[in-house]
Amino acid sequence: MSDAVASAVVRLHEAGIPDPTNEARRLAALAAEQGTDLADLVARRVTHEPFSHIKGRRAFWKHDFVVTADVLDPRPDTETLVEIALTLPFDRVLDLGTGSGCILLSLLAERRSTTGVGVDISAAALQVAKTNAGITQTEEQVQWLESDWFDAVEGTFDLITSNPPYITEAAYADLDPTVQRYEPRIALTPGGDGLAPYRLIAQQGAKFLAPDGYVLLEIGFDQGDSVQSIFKVSGWRDISCIPDLNGKDRVIRAKSPN
Ligand SMILES: C[S@@+](CC[C@H](N)C(=O)[O-])C[C@H]1O[C@@H](n2cnc3c(N)ncnc32)[C@H](O)[C@@H]1O
Repeated sequence: MSDAVASAVVRLHEAGIPDPTNEARRLAALAAEQGTDLADLVARRVTHEPFSHIKGRRAFWKHDFVVTADVLDPRPDTETLVEIALTLPFDRVLDLGTGSGCILLSLLAERRSTTGVGVDISAAALQVAKTNAGITQTEEQVQWLESDWFDAVEGTFDLITSNPPYITEAAYADLDPTVQRYEPRIALTPGGDGLAPYRLIAQQGAKFLAPDGYVLLEIGFDQGDSVQSIFKVSGWRDISCIPDLNGKDRVIRAKSPN
C-alpha cells in the first residue's frame, strides 16, 4: 500500500467511514481513472459524501446510472423488483417515484418494444432521469411527468412499478449520515409510519391498470404484512410478498381488482 493510500485509510477511519481500507483503495482507483488527487477525493468522502456522488455514477442492473444529490442512489435490493417485472408481460409501464429512472429505464432497455411513463414530484430528479434515458438509449420509449403520485397521470398501463419512500419518521432520524446528509429526504421517508404511498397506490392504482395488470412495489424488510393487508382490503388479487437475495421481504406483487 502506498503512503498516500495508507494516510487515506487513517483519515477515513477517523471520520467513521465503514471499511476504510477498501474505501481508500476504491478512491485511489477513481483518482487514477479521473486523473485527480486522491487527497481531494478523500477530503470529500470524510464529510460522508457518498462514493457514488464523488464518482457521479452508480451501477444498477445492466447500466451505470448518473446519480446526484437530487436522487436516491439506486440500491442493489431494488434489482429484485426489476427481476420480477421481467417475469411479467407488459407493453406499457408506469413507474411512480422514478428518481434516477433506474427501474423504468432498466425495464425499457430489456424490452425495446415497450414504452413507459416515469413520474416524480421532483423536477430535479426528472432531469437526472432524462440524462439516464440517454445512457440507456431509451429516450424514444419514455415520457417523464412531474406529478404528485397519480395526480397528472392519464391512461392505463399493464404494469405499475414503484419504490416509494417508505422509511418511518422515527427510523429516518437514525439513518447513517452518508444517507441523511446527501440523499433527498423526500426520497427516503413519507413521514409517519412510512405506509402512506402504499395506501394511496392501493386506493387509486386500479384506475390506471389494464384488466389483470399488476403492481410491483418495493417495501421495507418489516412491512410485508402491513402492505399485503392494505392491498387485500382494497380488493386486489393474487397478492404475494417476494424476498430479496438476502431472504428479506422486499417486493409486493398484486393483481388489479378489475
Ligand atoms: C425511494 S426513491 C426511489 C427512486 C428510484 N425509483 C429507485 O428505485 O432508486 C422515491 C422517489 O419518490 C419520489 N417521490 C416522493 N414523494 C412523491 C410524490 N408525492 N409523488 C411522486 N413522487 C414522489 C422521490 O422524489 C423519489 O425520487
